[in-house]
Amino acid sequence: MHFKLPETLLLGAATAATQIEGGDTNNSWYDWALLPGRIADGTSPLRADDHYNRVDEDIELMKRLSLQTYRFGLEWSRIEPEQGRFDEKAIEHYRSELQKLKAAGIKPLVTLHHFTNPRWFEKIGAFEHPDSPRIFLNFVRYTVEKLADSADEWITINEPNVYAVNGYFFGTWPPGKKNDIKALSAVYTNMAACHIASYREIHRIRQKAGFARDTTRVGFANHLRIFTPRCRFNPLHRISAAFMEHSFQNALTAAAMTGKTSWPVKKLPASVDGVALGGGRFYDFIGINYYSRDAVSTGKNGVFKNVPHNDLGWEIYPEGLRLLCERMYRLYKAPIYITENGTCDEADSFRSRFIYEHLKILCESALPVERYYHWSLMDNFEWAEGERIRFGLIAVDYETQKRTVRKSGDFYAHIIQNRGVTGDMYKTYVENSQYRV
Ligand code: BGC
Repeated sequence: MHFKLPETLLLGAATAATQIEGGDTNNSWYDWALLPGRIADGTSPLRADDHYNRVDEDIELMKRLSLQTYRFGLEWSRIEPEQGRFDEKAIEHYRSELQKLKAAGIKPLVTLHHFTNPRWFEKIGAFEHPDSPRIFLNFVRYTVEKLADSADEWITINEPNVYAVNGYFFGTWPPGKKNDIKALSAVYTNMAACHIASYREIHRIRQKAGFARDTTRVGFANHLRIFTPRCRFNPLHRISAAFMEHSFQNALTAAAMTGKTSWPVKKLPASVDGVALGGGRFYDFIGINYYSRDAVSTGKNGVFKNVPHNDLGWEIYPEGLRLLCERMYRLYKAPIYITENGTCDEADSFRSRFIYEHLKILCESALPVERYYHWSLMDNFEWAEGERIRFGLIAVDYETQKRTVRKSGDFYAHIIQNRGVTGDMYKTYVENSQYRV
């Protein structure tokens, strides 16, 4: 046996509503994709995987992959199409999806916000708006009250740092603001407030619905990277790496998880619509989305030369996952959920090795890693890259919506079925799966 999965580790896959559902014309990314040049291949999330109409087919595929758990998102713009008006039909859709997962024996982890906003919310300035925490909390309260009995694990917000940096610093995502540090700081602060208030409310609502407090787990999905000085002897590279690590991830992580703020996160409000924020512990698991590391020179990040990399040129650096898990556990002491980890590999020529190496590191560590969600279940609308970039265990032909399990998808299913990787599996799936350097 190359490695065994610990009993307590559940394996699954992750998706996000806008990236797979299709058919929604009421969210910020639908509008963004209409603007010329915003999406590399000119596609739109309007088509995506048509998952909204193919829930049954896709759950059958999850069963075929033997998934134990599935992380997916709810589309806020469907649930609250206009401010304060909620759509019972949308909630019914998600309730039925949750019931079908339950019937299939697949444990759900539900994400409330994954990068996209209803059009009306985007229009008023989204998370830059001082009232955004109250507005978001209103959506969370409605949704969780309706679904409290169908899901016990929740992610409030996916990668607030990636959302804020792409939207307000690089300007490559909506609302397309560049170098707007004031807005970035407001967005970080309001999103941290949203997370904390939602954390408290989800627990309150589930308890009111009769569930013991420790049956509910709430957290958020941190996007964490490794920042390595390009030249470790160059003090400017080292300072830049430390600065990026703090401003991109550490400050926001600390603010959302404990309420302790430092620049660029501003002091949090004392309360959001009657829910006190204050200092505390606002997580039941440590959620980590991990993809890659950066080589940092003075004020600039890039990729080291001659390293394994994926279709987007991101370095493949499994060791980074161990480093981040260790660091986060030392700081926050809670079960670890790898809420996303995956790679884009259209030819499926190295995804199996990627899975093998990242899982091996987790399984060999003594840390309490309880979930691993591969990103992604199937190819989907990859934001500013569009449909052309492929992260799926399952390949999707967008024209016909035909799904085909990739060889790496079969490998993943075998890992779950055999609770680890045997010598034979290594030979069949990993030996010839090789990175490009
Ligand atoms: C996001 C996903 C995205 C993936 C690959 C993560 O940052 O949460 O939505 O598709 O990375 O880029």
